[in-house]
Amino acid sequence: MNDFVVVANRLPVDLHYDDNGAPVWTPSPGGLVAALTPVLAQHHGCWIGWPGTTTEAPEPFRTESGILLNPVSLSQSDYEEFYEGFANATLWPLYHDLIVTPRYHRNWWDAYQRVNQKFAETAAQVAAPNATVWVQDYQLQLVPGMLRELRPDLTIGFFLHIPFPAPDLFRQLPWREEILTGVLGADMVGFHLASNARNFLHVVAHYSEHDVSGTVSVRDITAHVHTSDDRQVGIGAFPIAIDPTPFLVDIDKTEVRAELGNLDQIILGVDRLDYTKGILQRLQALEELHKAGMMPPRTVFLQIATPSRERIDHYRRTRNMVEQAVGRINGRFGSLGSQVVLYQHQSFDRERLVKLYATADIMLVTPFKDGMNLVAKEYVACHGDGSGALVLSEFAGAAEELSEAFLCNPFDVESIKQQLLAALLASPAEKQARMLRMHEQVISHDVNVWATAFLRCLTLG
Ligand code: ADP
Ligand code: G6P
Repeated sequence: MNDFVVVANRLPVDLHYDDNGAPVWTPSPGGLVAALTPVLAQHHGCWIGWPGTTTEAPEPFRTESGILLNPVSLSQSDYEEFYEGFANATLWPLYHDLIVTPRYHRNWWDAYQRVNQKFAETAAQVAAPNATVWVQDYQLQLVPGMLRELRPDLTIGFFLHIPFPAPDLFRQLPWREEILTGVLGADMVGFHLASNARNFLHVVAHYSEHDVSGTVSVRDITAHVHTSDDRQVGIGAFPIAIDPTPFLVDIDKTEVRAELGNLDQIILGVDRLDYTKGILQRLQALEELHKAGMMPPRTVFLQIATPSRERIDHYRRTRNMVEQAVGRINGRFGSLGSQVVLYQHQSFDRERLVKLYATADIMLVTPFKDGMNLVAKEYVACHGDGSGALVLSEFAGAAEELSEAFLCNPFDVESIKQQLLAALLASPAEKQARMLRMHEQVISHDVNVWATAFLRCLTLG
């Protein structure tokens, strides 16, 4: 039995099989996994999640860092209707402000309920009496309510890793009341930003029978929902952060520079290949700067794009458009010996990523909407020497804390161009002043501060 249990759609590792049919585990993608892994290792906690395949789930096992992994299997229809359907073609676009149109299908909703019930039952089986169970993210919003029904003795937290949309958007969801009731099964609900928490309180006040009191604070609980079954649910904002340790190492920057042809400026993008990340728009900005002859010579843009949700229509389309744009830009502005855009559609190991972050002169992070964006914080963590410059979308949650970045509006290509040029042309002194202030913020508000603040509020009520 476990005193501390995390329930997330994904385990921190994905199961694959090699050519001989032997199981191979690889790190799974995304910010949730990056942030929670060090927290779980510290608590020697139990992590319930899906191993990323539709084959039978393996038995629970402990990782080298002491995390007990408890796999939950998804059938092929769960995968299609729950994961690709309700989670990533209904909720994901709805919560990211309708960058693409959400699809509402009753059979996807049925699958969402079914899979949430499965996760809740697994948590109910493995949690010790009076344990703390921390449920994560948009895929599992019904789990807190279902788990409370099964195990009223538990202390239950819920954290949303993506934005919570404006009330007028959330209102579209045919199952909005059920989602609110599910989330409010928790004792405490956390969001990245106070604005997300306020959106949530607004919809609770307008579309449920529960009462709202107080105002939202950051890293504390001063707002509550009084539920119709007479419970108090704390609501707060807890901006997620990184474990900076792996990013604070000394890097020989000449190595990556040499590999990329000893150019003057390396501009970097690192994202899951998701339409929310604005990869196409940043390519458009680069293309226009090249066309106008405004791009400094001997500059390369390196885009690392992790494969993500590849069978979903809009992901496939985004990948096609990005790859066409890369080809077009290189075809026109590259030469036989050198390309102006380097594109890698693959996952990189941490060590390699750190070298790229540390060497890049400019990091381009231009999402249309992002709950936080840990890539921006990881880049800043690698630049404690004051080098580098971050061009960051105003619509990334990280922009609230990293306000010294070169902030751009990703819906306005001119704005991306201007901020990229400003970063390229800024004096070393200006860049250093901006970077050091952001570095201090990223180091002092690390993932430990985030998890401790949330868990303190959860367990102390
Ligand atoms: P999201 O959670 O939406 O993917 P974040 O920026 O919050 O976005 O987190 C992404 C995480 O995934 C970061 O920890 C980053 O280091 C990691 N990551 C992104 N792209 C790659 C890649 N190509 N290879 C390895 N890790 C990656
Ligand atoms: C974001 C979500 C996570 C998700 C990750 C990767 O970070 O907030 O919940 O795990 O993306 O997406 P995937 O669909 O591959 O799990």
